[in-house]
Amino acid sequence: MQPPHLLLFLFLSIVLPGMWADPEEPQVIQYLLTSLFANISSAEVSCVALVGDIAILTLDPANWSIHFHWPWVSQAAAEGDGEKMMSQYKIALRNMIRFVHDTVQQTKQHYPLVVQFRAGCVLYPNTTSQGFLNVGWDGRDLISFEVDKQSWEAQQPSQVAELVSKSLNRQKSLRILLEHLLSIWVCQSNFLTLKRYGKEILERQELPVATVFARTASLDQLLLVCHVTGFYPRPISVAWLQDGQEVPPGPALNTSTILPNADLTYQLRSVLAVAPRDGHSYVCRVRHRSLGTRSLLIPWENRSTAPTISITIAVLLLVSTAFAGAFWWWKRRKGNEATWET
Ligand SMILES: *[C@@H]1O[C@H](CO)[C@@H](O)[C@H](O)[C@H]1NC(C)=O
Ligand SMILES: *[C@@H]1O[C@H](CO)[C@@H](O)[C@H](O)[C@H]1NC(C)=O
Ligand SMILES: *[C@@H]1O[C@H](CO)[C@@H](O)[C@H](O)[C@H]1NC(C)=O
Ligand SMILES: *[C@@H]1O[C@H](CO)[C@@H](O)[C@H](O)[C@H]1NC(C)=O
Repeated sequence: MQPPHLLLFLFLSIVLPGMWADPEEPQVIQYLLTSLFANISSAEVSCVALVGDIAILTLDPANWSIHFHWPWVSQAAAEGDGEKMMSQYKIALRNMIRFVHDTVQQTKQHYPLVVQFRAGCVLYPNTTSQGFLNVGWDGRDLISFEVDKQSWEAQQPSQVAELVSKSLNRQKSLRILLEHLLSIWVCQSNFLTLKRYGKEILERQELPVATVFARTASLDQLLLVCHVTGFYPRPISVAWLQDGQEVPPGPALNTSTILPNADLTYQLRSVLAVAPRDGHSYVCRVRHRSLGTRSLLIPWENRSTAPTISITIAVLLLVSTAFAGAFWWWKRRKGNEATWET
């Protein structure tokens, strides 16, 4: 006989209206460039651009040609100043390489050397935006470009950082160009065009799928696991409710970091340690943008472990019976074949 509250739980686990909607997050477009200088005559450049967590293009290190990951990215690149940018980036890369080699000579640095660039724009929910450009040298922040001030600032107290920022600050036309590139081109034209063409992918929402199960840790401890997967975008809230009350963070509660799946969705798990048969009810509550203002509630029911186990055993029995049957048939067939062969 099914206890009535179990049916209620099944009903609840579909979706319940809640009071939660994930706060809007800033959106980021970024171009990440890594260059490896093995010696005075070599430079290997690779680059990837991302909108949020979506890779939109990469630079082929062999011939510096750009590979667009989506048709809408090449559409967006052909619009506005995009074509002009595409005809200029190789010149910019060559200048950058020469500048790094010159700097290494002047400051008597050593090869091999890795120089990284991170340029892009943050778009806030209040529609203001902020361009950025940071340079890393051998794994540490070296200098960054302050867009509003149109100036380079050292990010470490070193001779290289001093020299590079001073030398770049002397080039007024470069500072004006960078300010324009970051605040007008990247933040407005480039970002907004990409958002328009890539709306379907960038605003994609995938519903979370949640399962709750228990694991016996010891005689006096049961681990309730809430596994949530398949959701997009990344922000999510997963909580355990004990008798309807949210369990606060503490030693009994352990929530994993959010991990990526291969299909551009995410997963995580939240584990709650409880005492077996403690008389409380436990529900895993999931809130995500794809659910709107509703919550996903998945109960864990002490008494429901028995039927679950019996179902599992039934399935196992069925599988092993089928397996035994197949094996018997296969042996018979082999036997027959052997007979035919002789
Ligand atoms: C410089 O480094 C590149 C890449 O590692 C290598 O192929 C080349 O032989 C090196 N050249 C010299 C002069 O050491
Ligand atoms: C650049 O190299 C890649 C392979 O590394 C090749 O597929 C692509 O066609 C090349 N592009 C150009 C413009 O040569
Ligand atoms: C917009 O939001 C950002 C980040 O929260 C903040 O720094 C900025 O001052 C805000 N701008 C306006 C005009 O409210
Ligand atoms: C949380 O889980 C991680 C990974 O399973 C484990 O290493 C860690 O000890 C756990 N922390 C607590 C407080 O249970």
